[in-house]
Parts: sequence; structure tokens; C-alpha cells
Amino acid sequence: MRPHCRSCFCPQFFCIPLIAFLLQAPLALFLSQSSVVQSQTAASARPARTDSELNDPAIEARVEELLRKMTLDEKVGQLVQYSAGQPTGPGTGRTDYPDMLAKGEVGALFNIVTAKETNAFQRIAVEKSRLHIPLIFGLDVIHGFRTEFPIPLGISATWVPQLAERAARVAAREASATGIRWTFSPMVDLARDPRWGRVAEGAGEDPFLGSAFARAYVRGYQGHSLSSAESILACPKHYVGYGAAEAGRDYNSTEVSEHTLREYYLPPFHAAVEAGAGSIMSAFNSLNGIPASANSFTLKKILRQEWGFRGIVDSDWTSVGELMNHGVANDGATASLRAFKGGVDMDMVSSLYHDHLAHLVRSGAISEADLDEDVRHVLRVKFALGLFENPYADEKKESFAFLHPEAISLSREIAERSFVLLKNDLLSNASPLLPLSNDVKSVALIGPLADDANMMLGSWGGLGDGRDVITLRTALVQKLGEASVHYAKGSEISTGTDAQIKAAVDVAKNSDVVIIALGENGPEMTGEAASRTHLDLPGRQEQLLEAVSATGKPVALIVFSGRPLILPWAVQHVPSILAAWFPGIQAGPALVRTLFGENMPTGKLTMTWPRSVGQIPIYYNGLNTGRPIIQNDQTPFPNGHDEKFVSRYLDESNLPQFPFGYGLTYTTLRYGQVELNKSELRLDWLREELTSRSSSAPALLQASAIITNTGSRATTETVQLYIRLQGTSVAEPVRALKGFQQVTIAAGETKRVVFSVPAEAFAFWNDQNIFAVEPSRATIWISPDSASGTGTQIETRNKEN
Ligand code: NOJ
Repeated sequence: MRPHCRSCFCPQFFCIPLIAFLLQAPLALFLSQSSVVQSQTAASARPARTDSELNDPAIEARVEELLRKMTLDEKVGQLVQYSAGQPTGPGTGRTDYPDMLAKGEVGALFNIVTAKETNAFQRIAVEKSRLHIPLIFGLDVIHGFRTEFPIPLGISATWVPQLAERAARVAAREASATGIRWTFSPMVDLARDPRWGRVAEGAGEDPFLGSAFARAYVRGYQGHSLSSAESILACPKHYVGYGAAEAGRDYNSTEVSEHTLREYYLPPFHAAVEAGAGSIMSAFNSLNGIPASANSFTLKKILRQEWGFRGIVDSDWTSVGELMNHGVANDGATASLRAFKGGVDMDMVSSLYHDHLAHLVRSGAISEADLDEDVRHVLRVKFALGLFENPYADEKKESFAFLHPEAISLSREIAERSFVLLKNDLLSNASPLLPLSNDVKSVALIGPLADDANMMLGSWGGLGDGRDVITLRTALVQKLGEASVHYAKGSEISTGTDAQIKAAVDVAKNSDVVIIALGENGPEMTGEAASRTHLDLPGRQEQLLEAVSATGKPVALIVFSGRPLILPWAVQHVPSILAAWFPGIQAGPALVRTLFGENMPTGKLTMTWPRSVGQIPIYYNGLNTGRPIIQNDQTPFPNGHDEKFVSRYLDESNLPQFPFGYGLTYTTLRYGQVELNKSELRLDWLREELTSRSSSAPALLQASAIITNTGSRATTETVQLYIRLQGTSVAEPVRALKGFQQVTIAAGETKRVVFSVPAEAFAFWNDQNIFAVEPSRATIWISPDSASGTGTQIETRNKEN
């Protein structure tokens, strides 16, 4: 076994962090943005790693023993992966997998979804290949396997990472029953551009929240031990910068400075690796001119050397071959060489490693020692998963793993907590429309998403089946009875007729209230290859909404979408708006319980909702600029020409429609001023806490605020802690999330919410290219979202000052 660092398990004897420590180097290399401790997730911030198997000497010994027996072609075979089922991208045209498996030419297959099929392929690999090395089967299990949960953007709107963990556990149990032991999830790409369809798959725009969710998914998929038959290997993706696709166009190039990478895009990946993720997927995009699937800076220097990653780097679908399209290789051999040298272990689908790697080793372009190292990554994971001992799925038990009652109720719970109430104005009777009264006599239910089961699964629906879905219409009829629910589709998602709109208007006229379910086509308009430039309601839905609203009946709009939409007319004219994402199989019951107040909507946005496409990219944690506009200024040119030379638009406010962190509920809350238990922070204290890297280190700073529930219903509030640093060597964001916690507050009750703010909350990637703390003025907010509240300041000083 090769020696490895004892301080952080990176695969070298003296790791960089250790050297930095010994030399009293700046603290930066010790820090992980992703391990910031904050009150709600203190226990989860420094989790036990589930990848201890990837550091297990017994496994290493088995890997070495096997490696010694392998021929060059067999080694290459372990680095080759194909899709052998329903394709999720352009195919390779290969059909000869059985033959290849028998020769040991394939290490992994994916997109096969039944135990019978995985077993059939596995039998060939295990029984017919010379060394009997099992395959690992993968799939995009993104928000559930058969029990479908809300899309990940919706799950993140709960602000409860533990729910993501539980959903991932259910998905792992169901998927592993079919022999799938590897999911290409979680997607931890930070996303600031809602034009990009893949924002549906992630946790939004914030690195701190994204890191918390990244850890949670990894823990959920991998469980306590990879070797458990119910654990599946996580694969955080797409490493890295994919979410910064220019103009929100999928697969587009990205330019991201190292500073922005380190502070924003990398932390969720680092968090996933720290939580023990056993694989990672290299992205399609080029990053600063170098394709992510041939990028030794990100894949080798950062991932392997700095973070000590010991698992598999899997390329995204044909991204090795796409190096030719990028223009960094003119033939397959060069593409293979670049990907290999860049740090990609396994070639997904393009077949170029299969075609060229052995020759590249024979010609001396690649050393066999380097090849061995990549093969080790794959074998290590296969041993850790226990595949050599238990290669097969139990075909008789497979279907019993699906749709357990607890899984279904978890799906409903997550859906209920994912809904974000965007608007709930008082009507003329001085009450808001929502929650609806149980005495409501008749409801007009309108819209193409009110009764479309398949849509509720969103993109990457796994084995999700529309027949498992309860739609809003079904659930509403169950609650109120057929006679009280007047349904009209009103339009299709992308098309519609005058007659459909007229029928909907008639239904609205004959009802007390209107619930209108509008939005995107989940599978088609969100997810991969689903970028949009118009973020409005597709087709004739806006027309339908306006026509129905013109009846004068009170309207509650439910928006189903995989991204923030831009709905200026609705925001101005519709009294109540609920963002529902794509809620999964329990969409209907979760929505009905929320509409009638049996469930309080408590979700909060994890991505900013813009006012117009021209504002994009728009995100809460931007920089102030040298010419900031006065905060909270809603109108263009409020004070005439004096305001011209500031950072602003001529024709639109700088403010978003709804900010990050925002969400209403059926009660009202009042936040008091932030109070701090210290009058100043000393850098030597911060450094001491950072270097101790101990979760038991005494919290440096306590920030608290009093919150009062001024309404008439109990609620669970997501309280957010933000920090701004000023006077630092690099400009830091106007606010950065550094903590969040949920607190349940009864009607009329007042509670003090306390955050222990760790030193890491004051560290950032500075002008010396290291994570460090510096003298600064910190402003601290405890607020219900990223745009409100008044901050309290504290200075961070050197000892001598
Ligand atoms: C391409 C997608 O980018 C990636 O997210 C997915 O995991 C692979 N295809 C495999 O389906």
C-alpha cells in the first residue's frame, strides 16, 4: 500500500495542508469553506466520512494483488464505461457489450434499470471474464428512483439538508435493489442563471447552503458504509464551473477566476468529498479555455492533491471525445491522452479509452504506473462497495423495495416543505385568499398542470411512473368532492385554443375561487439541454391567467417550474402565488394540505427570481461595485439625473422580483436587531479556532436576535445569518450566508434565536490566493431573507491594534 498522509488521508506522505501548518503558513490551506459550523447543522458540518473503506489497508492489499494479475488490456477495461439501456445522450453505436464483458474490456455500465438485466450483464463479467472483476452499474438517480421526490431545487427550498439525506437514503435502497450501486448525483453546481435548465437539479446559488445539501446527499446515498448492500456510490457533478455556462446555454463555455472558483463553485464539491463521496464527474464545459474533462488544475491539483480524493473521476457522457469539438485534440488518441493526463479515470461512453489507452501506454506516452493509479481508483471503489462478495441483485426482492409507505409520506413531507409562498395579498375583505377556508363551496381548478401526472416528476424522473402520482385535481376532488371542483384545462403547456380559454373563464365565473396551475413542461423544459431565453409562462398560459383573472374571482396561482420564472403581470395582479417546483408523486395531497392551511408553507427561495431576463445573471451575493445604487431603491431614476452614474439599468430596477432566502407563510414575523456577545474580534482568536479544526472549539462569537410571531398561526421559520466583510484585501460580497436554522414559533410567541458564528465564517480567498482571515469590519444580519434586516457591525483586529 502506498503511504498516505495521516492528517487528512490525502495520498501522499506529507500533504500540503500539513506542510503549511508546520511552516506556520497562512491558515488558508487548513480551511474548508464547506465545513463551516453553524447552529442548525453543527452536528452535520463535520460528518464522519463514509469513505473510510477508501483508506482501508485491507482493501488496498486486495487492489494491489489484483492489479499484479491484470494485463494491460484488462487494466484499460476497468476505465471504460458504456450506457447499455435507454440513452441519456448521443450513443456510441456499440452493441457488443457481452463480448467485451467476457474479455474484461468494460468496467462499468449504466442506464440498466432492472435486476434481471443487471444480473445478466454481471454474470458475464463475473463468470466469463478471466479475473472475474464485477461491473459497477450506474444511473442518474436524481430525486428518487421509483418513489419520486420533488426536484432538487425544490428540496433545497426546504432549507433542511436532513430531508435531502433521507430522500437519498430511500433512493439508495430502491436503486440498489436492482443492482444499481452508483448514482450520478448530487448535482452540486452553483447556479446563478435561471436560463440554464439544469438549475432544477441543484440547490441554487449559494455555496454555504449548497455545501450543506452536498454533504447531506452524499451521506444519504452512501449510508454509514459503502459496503452495505443498500448503499450506492455518490457522484457529485459536474466538476467544475458547469453552472457558470455563458448566457445560460447548456454546455457553453465558462470563464471563472480562481477566486470565484474557490469561494463559490468549489465549496459544494469540497463538502461532498469531505463527506466521503467515492466518485466525482468531470464536466462538459471548458473552464478558462481548458475543458473540465482535461483540466489537471482542478482534477489533479485541487481534487487529488489538496483534497486527497481517492475515488473515481468519471467523465461526463462522451466528454472525452468532445475534447475534439472543444478544439484541444484533433484525434481520438490525443483526446484520450489529454483526458487521462488531465485526471479523468473513467471514460463514459465515448469509447476512446478503449480504443487508444493501451496503445498510448505501449508507446510510452502514458506510463503504466500512471495507468495503475487510475485503475486503483476504480478497483478500490468496487472492493469498498462489496461487489466482489455480492455482485448480484436479488431479483425476487426487487419490487418489494419500491414505494414503501414511509417513503411515500416522506415524499409528501418534503413536497410540503418545499413550497414557497411568493405572494398572499389581502383581499377586499381584509383577509388573504390563502389558506382557503374548508367552507369554500366551489373551486375552479384551471390549468395544464392541474391534472398532469407525468409533469409532476420533472426532469430525471428515474423509474418514476405517472401512475404513482396523485395530481392536484385528484387530491382536491378527494377533499371537496367532485361537485365542488369545477375543472377546465384552459390550455396546453405550449399551445392552446380560444375555446379552451373560454371554457376556463366560464368555470371561473361559476366558482367562488380560482386555483390555477401553470408553468413549464417538467421533463422537456427543465434539466439537461433545456435552456430558455424567455422565462415567462410558455404558450398561451399568460393569456389564460389574464382572462381568468378578469372574471374578478380571487385567484391563487400555483407555479410549477424547474427554475425561477419571470412573471411581472402575475406578481402585479394575482393576489396569491405559490411556487411548487415539480413536487413528485405526492404533488396533489401536499398542495391541497398547503392550500387549506393544514400545512404551513415554509419554503424559502434558494435562487433569486429576476424581474427581467436582462438582469441575469442575478444573485444575492454579488459585489458592491465602486458605484452602488442606493439599496432598496425600486425605481429607475428615482432622483433625476444625479443618479445617472451609478451601477444600474435605465429601464429596470436592480432589485430582483424575489430575493434569495425569501418566502412568506400564513403568519407574520417580526425580527429584532442583531445582538453580539462581543465588542470586537481578534485575529489571533480566529486563527486559533481555525487551526484547532475541532468542533469542540469554543464558539468565538454569538449573534442573536429576537423573533416574534405577530400573526395567529404557529410556524417554522428559516432564520438566516449573513455576513459582509469590508476593508479586506479583496472585495467580498454584499452579503454571504453563513448560517441558518429553523425555529418553531407559536402564535404570539417571542423567541431568541442564537447563532454560534465560527471563525470560518470570517475566512475568504484573499489576494495571496489562500483562505485566510484578515482585519475587517464585519456586518452581521439575522434576517428572514437576503434582502431585509439591519446589520450590526463588529471589527476584526490584530492583537496590537
Ligand atoms: C450527461 C449529464 O450531463 C450528466 O449529468 C449525466 O449524469 C450523464 N449524462 C449520464 O446520464
